[in-house]
Amino acid sequence: MKILHITPEIAPWSKAGGLGDATSALAKNLAALGHEVRVASPLYGSVPGREKMGTLLDSLKVDVGGDPAKAACRVRSLELAPKAQAWFIEHEDYYGAREIYPAREDTAERAAFFGRAALDACLQLGWIPDVIHCHDWTTGLVPVLLNTTLKASPLGRCASVLSIHNLQHQGLLSRRILPFLRLPEWLFKAEELECLGGVNFLKGGILHATRVITVSPTYAQEILTPAFGFGLQDVVQRRQASLDGILNGVDLDEWDAHKDKHLAQTFSAQDLSGKRTCKQDLQKEFKLAQADVPLIGVISRLWDQKGLDLAVQVLPKFLRSDRLQFVLLGSGDSWLEQEYRRLADNFPGRAGVRIGYDHALSHRIEAGCDFFLMPSRFEPCGLNQMYSMAYGTLPIVRATGGLADTVRHWNPSTRQGTGIVFQHTDVGAVDWAIEQALALYARPDDFVSAQKQAMQAEFSWLKSAQAHLVCYGKAIQQH
Ligand code: ADP
Ligand code: GLC
Repeated sequence: MKILHITPEIAPWSKAGGLGDATSALAKNLAALGHEVRVASPLYGSVPGREKMGTLLDSLKVDVGGDPAKAACRVRSLELAPKAQAWFIEHEDYYGAREIYPAREDTAERAAFFGRAALDACLQLGWIPDVIHCHDWTTGLVPVLLNTTLKASPLGRCASVLSIHNLQHQGLLSRRILPFLRLPEWLFKAEELECLGGVNFLKGGILHATRVITVSPTYAQEILTPAFGFGLQDVVQRRQASLDGILNGVDLDEWDAHKDKHLAQTFSAQDLSGKRTCKQDLQKEFKLAQADVPLIGVISRLWDQKGLDLAVQVLPKFLRSDRLQFVLLGSGDSWLEQEYRRLADNFPGRAGVRIGYDHALSHRIEAGCDFFLMPSRFEPCGLNQMYSMAYGTLPIVRATGGLADTVRHWNPSTRQGTGIVFQHTDVGAVDWAIEQALALYARPDDFVSAQKQAMQAEFSWLKSAQAHLVCYGKAIQQH
C-alpha cells in the first residue's frame, strides 16, 4: 500500500505532545511491514537537522487563494526508515517561527496550507497514495478537499482516514478558509462544516473521512457521549459505523530501559538493581533526600485535561507527613505552573519541580520513579503510562480513555495488576489512589510483582500498525 500521513507533528523533529511520537512510530512500523509511507508536516523554525534534508520539490505551486505571492513552497525530505520518507513543507511566512501552535491571526490559513501543499506535492510527483491518513484538527479539511474540489483529480480515488488524537481541539475558525482552499460555499451549513458561525476543521474531517480512528477503544466509546464529545458527539455518532479505536504503542527504539542512553544505569525485569541507581540519581538531580520513600513522578502538559489541579491539592498532605517524594516536569497554564513551583518551595528535599520541556530528563523520571501519576479528566490514549510500565514505574491513573485500556488495577487477592486505577475526577479519588499506591509500596513482594507484570505488558507499535492496516483495507473498500 502507498500511505500518506499528513500531520502537524512528527518526532523527533516536531513534538508538542504524544501526537509527534505516534505519527513517527506508526510510519516506521507501517514501513517495516512492507508499505510505502510518506509523512508530510510543516518545517517549523525549530526543526533540527535541516542541513541533512534533501530537496524533493524546489518550488511547488499550491492551489490556494489569498496572496498569490504566498501560494508556493519548497518540499524538503529525509528518510525516516527504509520505505518511509518525511516531507517537510517549507514556507517561511507560515512556518518559519519556532512554535508549532502559535497564536496568530492566520491560524486557519497556516493549517490549511500544509494539507493542500501535501496533496499538491503528490499530484506534482505523480505519487498517488491508496490511503491518506490525517491527524487532528489542523488536517481536518483534507478529507473535505478530497471529496469536493479534488474529487475529479487523480487524488479522488484515495481513501481517507482521520485520527482523532484529541477532540477538545477542533479548529473553529473563520469561514474565509473556504474560498482560500477553493472549497464550495454549500459546505457552510450546520449539517456540514458550519459551527457557531465559523468553520470547524475537525467536524469537516470527521464527516468527510472515509473512516475515523481514535487512539483507544474506550475513547472511541466516550466521544459518542456529551461528557467527552466537546459538542461534536452528534457528529461522531453519525460516523459510528466507520469509527475504530486503535491503541498507540511504545516505540522501543526510544523507550527501552535495557538500552536507554539517558539513564545512570540500565535495567530489566529480570534485574531491577539499575532502577535503584536511577532513583538515587533522580533524587540527587532534584535535591531530594536520599531516602527509601516512594517517589511519584509526573511529566505532562499542565492543562485542564490532565487533572493535575486535583493532584496539587492532595500532595501537601502526603509531603507534610514525609510519606512520599514527588517530581514534576511540565509546562502549560501559568497559574498551575505557579502552584507546582510553590509546592516545591514549600517542601524542599521532598518535592522537585522543573517547568519546561526536557527530553532526556523525561527518560530519567520514567526510570527513577516508583509511581507515575496521570489523574486525567479525559485521555484519548496517553503514552506516558505505557512508557512508565516499560520502566517498571507503576502508573496511578484515572479510568478513562487509553488509561483504562492499558493499566490493570492491582488486586491484592489475586496479586495481579500493573498499577493503581481510580474512577472519579475529584480530590478524594486522587487521595484514595495515592493511599493505595503507598500501601502497595509497603509490601515489597507485591510491589516488585506488579513492577514485573507492568514491564512484561506489551504495547507494540507493530500490533497497532497491523490494526491500522485493517482499517485502511476497510477504508479502501468503502471508498
Ligand atoms: P499528550 O499528547 O496529551 O500531551 P501523551 O501522554 O500522549 O499526552 O504524550 C505526551 C508526550 O510528551 C510524552 O512523550 C511525554 O514524555 C512528552 N512530554 C510532555 N511534557 C513533556 C516535558 N515537559 N518534557 C519532556 N517531554 C514531555
Ligand atoms: C493526544 C492525546 C493523548 C494521546 C496522543 C497521541 O495528545 O491527548 O492522550 O496519547 O494524542 O495519540
